[in-house]
Parts: sequence; structure tokens; C-alpha cells
Amino acid sequence: MPARRFPTTVLALGATSAICEATLRVLAERGARFYLVARNQEKLNAVAADLRTRGASGVVTHAMDLDDTAAHPAMLATAAQSLGTIDLALLAYGVLGNQAEAEASYAAAEEVLHTNFLSAVSLITWLANYFESMGQGTLAVISSVAGDRGRKSNYVYGASKGALNIFLDGVRNRIDRAGVQVLTIKPGFVATPMTAHLAQGPLFAQPSQVARGIVKAIEKRRDIVYLPAFWAIIMMILRLIPRRIFKKLSV
Ligand SMILES: NC(=O)c1ccc[n+]([C@@H]2O[C@H](COP(=O)([O-])OP(=O)(O)OC[C@H]3O[C@@H](n4cnc5c(N)ncnc54)[C@H](OP(=O)(O)O)[C@@H]3O)[C@@H](O)[C@H]2O)c1
Repeated sequence: MPARRFPTTVLALGATSAICEATLRVLAERGARFYLVARNQEKLNAVAADLRTRGASGVVTHAMDLDDTAAHPAMLATAAQSLGTIDLALLAYGVLGNQAEAEASYAAAEEVLHTNFLSAVSLITWLANYFESMGQGTLAVISSVAGDRGRKSNYVYGASKGALNIFLDGVRNRIDRAGVQVLTIKPGFVATPMTAHLAQGPLFAQPSQVARGIVKAIEKRRDIVYLPAFWAIIMMILRLIPRRIFKKLSV
């Protein structure tokens, strides 16, 4: 098998997310070229300018709301044309939603499921076919440890990520054999705007720490990565708790 080259062309979906931006910085320092997609042009411009100063060999921005699945194929085709070949697609957008609102209203739950799961399915479907036809590439998706077991404090968000994990398992089973890496990224708590309202404890990681883990997992061609790594142990213990006990816990 020929040596695998490190991704030099990167499509970032949700490029203004704190975890994504930190990851793109690491890749920029290695001279990568970027096609950045996010919904806020001002924030996109700031990320693009930062990546250029860090060594990016080219940056193109594309403002769109990624909930708009009908617009995905045209955006993805434009990105592929602009980059020449996409080496790495990183899906990094998402919403935490409000668990209490989602318990009270299906509409609120549907918003979370649409953004975190259904719109991701739309992007992944196109990208899986693209990478399969190229016989190479990395499809990296930021999911969450919350998808490993439903908990009363965030099961709507957790369900959106859990469904995403199962979808990615299936896609990996289909296209790994075509030479495509499908990487499921499962961070624990990360100090970003998404969690700014939470009291930060010792379990919180910084986006730069998670970013280094993402890049390492791409290099090592991993399938699934918990970040920081200790979350693999925490989630294993959480999954092993018998249901008759788990259902009575307040987690
Ligand atoms: N922070 C954590 O503790 C944690 C833990 C596990 C997993 N994650 C996951 O990590 C990923 C990145 O989140 P983060 O922590 O970096 O938080 P963040 O900085 O708040 O990033 C979330 C990003 O998603 C974007 N977004 C939301 N809905 C969108 C839409 N419809 N179209 C386009 N962009 C949209 C936001 O854009 P705007 O800036 O325009 O709002 C923002 O850039 C998410 O998938 C999240 O679920 C986070």
C-alpha cells in the first residue's frame, strides 16, 4: 500500500466552531489549503485571516446555513472544484439545544435532530460517495460522548449524536475498503461558546488540546477517538452500569 499523505486540502463544515478553528490552525501550520463553510460571513473572514497568517496556502470562504440540505450538493460540488481534490472533510457544526424545551416541544427537539443528525446525513451521503469514487480521503465528524448513552440531562442532543455514531459506523463499514478513513470524534466537555453557560470543572478540555487529538487521530487513521482519551474509560463505565440502576441515577 502506498504511504498515505497528510491532508493538504481541507473542507471545513462549521469552520467557525471553536474546536474546528483550533484544528484548522494545526493544519494551516502545515501549509494546508482550505474551503471554509459556516453561516456567519464576518466570523468566517476572521477565521480565514487567522489561517492565512499561520501558513495556509489558500483559503476560500462560503457562507451558508448548513440546515439548508437542499443547498448541500451545489455547495459541496463547488468546494470540490475549488480545492481540486478534497483530502479531508471535517464536519464540526452543531447545537446543544435546550433539553427542557425539547422535552416540552417536539419542534424544539426536531431542530436539534435536524442540525446535528439529518443535515449531517445529507453532507455525509454526498461526501461518502465522493471519497469512495476518489478511492481516498478522510471524512472526520465531530460527534460527542453524549451519544454513548441516553441521560435525562441531555438525551435529545445525545440521541442526535448517537444516531450520527451509528450512521458513521455503517458508512465506515461501506467505504473503509475503498481506502477512505471515516473518523468519529467524541469529545467530552470542551470550553467553547457551546458550553460557556456551564460551570467549568476539571473535566473541561481546551479546544487546542482536542484539536491536537483530532489531527493525531487523522494521522493514525483511527476509526473512533475519545478526546481527551480518559473519556473512553468514563463512558465505558457509564455504559456498563446496569439499566435497572442507571434509570434511577440523576446524570
Ligand atoms: N463544547 C463541547 O463541550 C462539546 C462536546 C462534545 C461535542 N461537541 C461538538 O463539537 C462541535 C463543535 O462545537 P464547539 O464546541 O466548537 O462549539 P461552538 O464554538 O459553539 O461551535 C458550534 C458551531 O456550529 C455552528 N452552527 C450551528 N448551527 C449551524 C447551522 N445550522 N449552520 C451552520 N453552522 C451552524 C455555529 O455557528 P455560529 O457561530 O454561526 O452560531 C458554531 O460555529 C459540535 O458538533 C458539538 O456538538 C462539543
